[in-house]
Amino acid sequence: MAHLASDRRDQAVRAAVEQGLLNGSEPVTALLDIAGIRASAAALTAAFAEITDAPVLHAFAVKAGPLVPVLRLLDSEGIGAEVASPGELALARAAGIRPENIVLDSPAKTLPELREALGLGIAVNADNLQELDRIDDLVGREPSRSPLGLRVNAQIGAGAIGALSTATKTSKFGVALRDEGARERVVRAYLDRPWLTRLHTHSGSQGLTLELMAKGVRAVYELAEEINAAAGRQQIDTIDIGGGLSVNFTSDEETPTFAMYARTLREEVPGLFDGRYGLVTEFGRSLLAKHGTVLTRVEYTKTTGARPIAVTHAGVQIATRTIYDPVSWPLRIAVYDAKGVPRTGDAVVQDIAGPACFAGDLLAEARALPLLEPGDVVAALDTGAYYFSSHYAYNSLARPGIHGFRADGDGIGFVTVRAAQSLEEIVTEAGGGSADALL
Ligand SMILES: Cc1ncc(COP(=O)(O)O)c(C=O)c1O
Repeated sequence: MAHLASDRRDQAVRAAVEQGLLNGSEPVTALLDIAGIRASAAALTAAFAEITDAPVLHAFAVKAGPLVPVLRLLDSEGIGAEVASPGELALARAAGIRPENIVLDSPAKTLPELREALGLGIAVNADNLQELDRIDDLVGREPSRSPLGLRVNAQIGAGAIGALSTATKTSKFGVALRDEGARERVVRAYLDRPWLTRLHTHSGSQGLTLELMAKGVRAVYELAEEINAAAGRQQIDTIDIGGGLSVNFTSDEETPTFAMYARTLREEVPGLFDGRYGLVTEFGRSLLAKHGTVLTRVEYTKTTGARPIAVTHAGVQIATRTIYDPVSWPLRIAVYDAKGVPRTGDAVVQDIAGPACFAGDLLAEARALPLLEPGDVVAALDTGAYYFSSHYAYNSLARPGIHGFRADGDGIGFVTVRAAQSLEEIVTEAGGGSADALL
């Protein structure tokens, strides 16, 4: 078994080509490195075990990888699930994750969702004070085992990507702590509700420095101390610090690491780790991104306006954020020949185009790579997180299949994580069962 993730990936690409995973009817497919995912889960657990003896629940943010076998793999490594919709909760339950290892967030929970969560005993973080009023009614009628908390926004400012920064002055998430009177209202909300025992924050996702993330955590820790002092007892016993560790999309190096973040937290918020507070984390991208690879065949090549272009099958349907916001979400590309062997040769500036019918559907623009030929294989690297949750149905392009891989004797063995979407499914999802509905 190759030790380096990049060597394992090269072996897997070769095996995928040899075993026919890429073919005329499935010209784009995706691979997940099972050993890599296990290693990241173990690194996360070890990083926090190093800084606290208190109980820690690591709840994987399902939005980053909404795949039942992935959730079950993580569960086998002791990682639970953070869910933010009825669909994500259904996936976590289908993966067999125990209610005590599930946390429900989301800014728009309906009454039936809240009722279901409290009935199951899963942890719920209310997003706002109106939601707390709803929970008042529910727990007043029937006591629940669910640990209950409130999400706050420390308003510490944005990271590098505005759309993913949740701790800005006007973010839609949580109760904004610095707004006039808000802090007092939050303290009051806890004093009025003895069953409210958790505090939650999540300052953003990708593009936040460790220092900014730690600043958000320090703000909730200080609030918890204030509430506990006002209550005259340790009412808040658990702090949910969210996820948001950035991923390095520029090389194979995994940095920053969970251990670096944990150490920063211990330095910046030492009181949080003296054993008085249990912890919940909600990492998504940093657990999976490095372990996924999207593969596509080059169908045609052409030169237009002196720019070589390789036309492939991986575009906006799978790399939606990259295609619409390439500056924030550039992807590394690796190229292989038709046998799945890394392609060498002089670098030529070329575009890697997707299959969709608009000009901006470019997986990579003006990228210096060995010149591609029809039949070659293009790999979009670091696509293990979010790329399988933001499928885009434009042009009715199929959701690609996803295969887990692991060393199997001398070679690489694949298992199906998710089958490719079939044409029948595309037709059904497009109202095929009610073709006459509008006549
Ligand atoms: C509440 C919450 N927790 C956790 C996450 C996961 O963030 P990341 O994948 O960056 O770790 C998100 C992502 O948007 C989130 O909204």
